[in-house]
Amino acid sequence: MVFLLKSYLKGEVKISGSKNAFFPAVGAGIALGAKVIRIRNTPLVRDVHVMLEIISELGGWYSINDKNEIVIYAEELSPQTIDRETFSKIRGGVVIFGALLARFGKAHIPFPGGCKIGKRPIDQHIKAARSLGFYVEEEPDGVKAHGDIKGTKISFDIKTVTGTENAILMAIRSEREVEIHNYAREPEVQELIKYLERYGVRFMMDENTLVVDPRYRKHVDEVDFELIPDRIEAGTFIICAASTEGKVKIKNVISEHIGKVIEKMKEAGVKIRVDNNEIEVEGCRNYEPLHVIADSYPDFPTDLQPQLTVMLMKAKGKSVIEERVFPERVSHVYELMKMGANIEVSGNKIIIYPSELHGGEVVEAKDLRSAASLVIAGLTADGGPTFIRNFEIIERGYENFLGKIQKLGAKFYVEEREGMKDVSYPA
Ligand code: EPU
Repeated sequence: MVFLLKSYLKGEVKISGSKNAFFPAVGAGIALGAKVIRIRNTPLVRDVHVMLEIISELGGWYSINDKNEIVIYAEELSPQTIDRETFSKIRGGVVIFGALLARFGKAHIPFPGGCKIGKRPIDQHIKAARSLGFYVEEEPDGVKAHGDIKGTKISFDIKTVTGTENAILMAIRSEREVEIHNYAREPEVQELIKYLERYGVRFMMDENTLVVDPRYRKHVDEVDFELIPDRIEAGTFIICAASTEGKVKIKNVISEHIGKVIEKMKEAGVKIRVDNNEIEVEGCRNYEPLHVIADSYPDFPTDLQPQLTVMLMKAKGKSVIEERVFPERVSHVYELMKMGANIEVSGNKIIIYPSELHGGEVVEAKDLRSAASLVIAGLTADGGPTFIRNFEIIERGYENFLGKIQKLGAKFYVEEREGMKDVSYPA
């Protein structure tokens, strides 16, 4: 549990490597048949550790150094069955499906888990495997697939990020070009493309279709990837700075990856200055109301919808966020209501009216991004401290979050947890 007090954030913060670009990097290394997979700029967050546990279960091992570099030794990897409990802790692990199919022609995975933000089926991942000609058996607890690639075309019914990553990974086994229609274009998918291009896989793409040509891929023992900065962490700090009326310089950002976020912040009246890979944000007391559509890239990211919900309570009028990716991603709304938020949920729309949040309440974080939104709420609420239960869930995806906000002047206190070592947050 964490106790937060109203604070104005000021100073500089450096963004860590992207959590969601880590999983496809592991997948790319496996699919390419590498014995050693080196991944630099890895955020040391809980979901990354779970992925490494999965790798260990598959017969690999790994080392982590203090420069955020992870080396996975994958020579002994085999497509054995993975423990259901471990696998169900994260979503990103699902890329193991495509990676093992590419490397061994077979895979057996339990259903993945991840944040509970609505339905998260894997029917499109299965469709991709079947379209390529793999024989797929759906079991009560997971999916088993084997075979060789005969198909050359995958058409997704909806845009799916990890589904697209899996399709690309599976295609590495093909002896012909593979076309992927209606693919997701998130920066993490684009990074997977770059990882593979580095080792000879060729790609052609337009807005709708991605063609993977794996015929010239290099057979290498070792691969080396560097993760891009985490765009969702960067967006969280932008919104946090704006909501607390703070002034924060955010370093190590690729601004094109958060183009829509910057556009919407400017529209609201947040002062934003972009300079190469740095963004300076200056907040103010009130903002213009917004209409935001949270959808696939390049639209506004769903992973910043809960954080934006908090900021828009400072708008001078009614704002609307349409959540088109995970319509049920509203757990934060009900917690914010306990703090005085005037919000309505209507279908996939979150309607936000100007509200003054008050502290002294106990709220509960139900998932990673709602934890971030409740922190922002706690830092902007008047009165006594805001208590966030299950706050620890933030460690799934934000590296040293408390250390970073403390350095920016956030006032908080962390209650000792059982088994928790003396955590010091470097100033
Ligand atoms: N969907 C299906 N069938 C499928 C796959 C997806 O119906 O087979 C639906 C989902 O239910 C959802 C939509 O398609 O409504 C999009 O889901 P997508 O597959 O794109 O999400 P994901 O790949 O499971 C990744 C990120 C999420 C992020 C979403 C959307 C990783 C590990 N996770 O999830 O990140 O919200 O894309 O951008 O890359 C987070 O970091 O907090 C997080 C949840």
